[in-house]
Parts: sequence; structure tokens; C-alpha cells
Amino acid sequence: MKMNHMLALLALISPVAALIATDVARADDDVAAVSKEKLAQFDAGPSSIDVSAYPAGLQKNYSVFREKCTLCHTLARPVNCEFVLPDEWSRYIKRMMHKPGSMISPGQAKKIYEFLAFDSSVRKKALFDERLSKAAPADKADAQSRIKEILDAYAQK
Ligand code: HEC
Repeated sequence: MKMNHMLALLALISPVAALIATDVARADDDVAAVSKEKLAQFDAGPSSIDVSAYPAGLQKNYSVFREKCTLCHTLARPVNCEFVLPDEWSRYIKRMMHKPGSMISPGQAKKIYEFLAFDSSVRKKALFDERLSKAAPADKADAQSRIKEILDAYAQK
């Protein structure tokens, strides 16, 4: 679509969009973590991960992630978001578990957590290292030991 057409279309739908946005904002009041623009940016990125080099058990966990985290948005959102540290993942997955209708059991949540924490440490390594370098010493040690724990658990599987 040409830019001027796009703008014309935007002008046409923006009153409607504004109405919808107010509703969404109300519903998200307590939980909105990032801006709508950021969410749209995450959603527009790649919607899968090449897990062929990951430990076999974590490849299985990837299927759980794909199944459970695509109920309300596409996989692109968690694939491209800026959460990287294990603690960020465990807290966020808990939040997604508590959303009405999410149907994620504690066992499934654990598998998804292990997958995403490991995945961030390799696929988003630059961001992961940057966060670690800024983290308090205790948080840095916590993140490193959690990744090691996952690697140890999945190395033999
Ligand atoms: C019941 C619906 C639902 C399910 C299931 C769900 N999400 Fe979400 N997700 C949302 C909504 C709504 C938002 C918008 C922001 C918010 O409300 O937290 C969101 C936003 C996100 C974001 C972006 C937030 C940010 O601050 O960057 C990530 C990442 C995410 N979800 C990951 C996941 C993962 C991982 C799973 C699976 C464990 C999952 N979601 C399952 C509804 C859901």
C-alpha cells in the first residue's frame, strides 16, 4: 500500500481504533507491561525459533511453548520480546498463567520457563549479556546458576 493511501486509511479508522484502544487500556490497566507500539513491533517479527541445535528435551519443551503461548497472541510476541533473564521469564509466565482461560498447568509452565530461559541465553545472547553486566551481583549469580541448572538437567536427556 502506498504511504498516502495508508495515511488516508488510518485517518478513516482512527476514531474506531481510539474507541477500541480505550477498552483495551481499561482491561489491561493492572497488567500492561509495555506500550502498544512495542507489542506491535514484537508481533511483527519472526514467529518461530530454530531449535535444531538445542538439547532434545528442550526441543520438546518448545512444542509446549508453541501450543500454550499462542492462545491469545501469536508466538512472535514472546519470540521477539525483550525479556531475557530467567527471573523475568518465571515472573512473566506466572502472569500469563493467571490470565483467565490460559489453561497452563504448573508442569507446563516449568517446561516453558526452562525453554525460554535457555533460549534467551543463546538466541538473545547480546541482550542477555548486557542485562547481566548491569544486574546486581546477586541477581547476576542467580541468573547464571539458573541457566546452569537447566543445562545440567537437560544435558543427559
Ligand atoms: C489468556 C491469554 C494469554 C495467554 C494464554 C498468553 N498470553 Fe502473553 N499476553 C497476553 C496479553 C493480553 C498481553 C498484553 C500485555 C499484558 O496484558 O500483559 C500479552 C503479552 C505478552 C508479552 C509481551 C509483554 C511485554 O511486556 O513485553 C509476552 C512476552 C508474552 N505475552 C508471553 C507469553 C507467554 C510466554 C505465554 C505462554 C506461557 C503467553 N504469553 C500466553 C495474553 C496471553
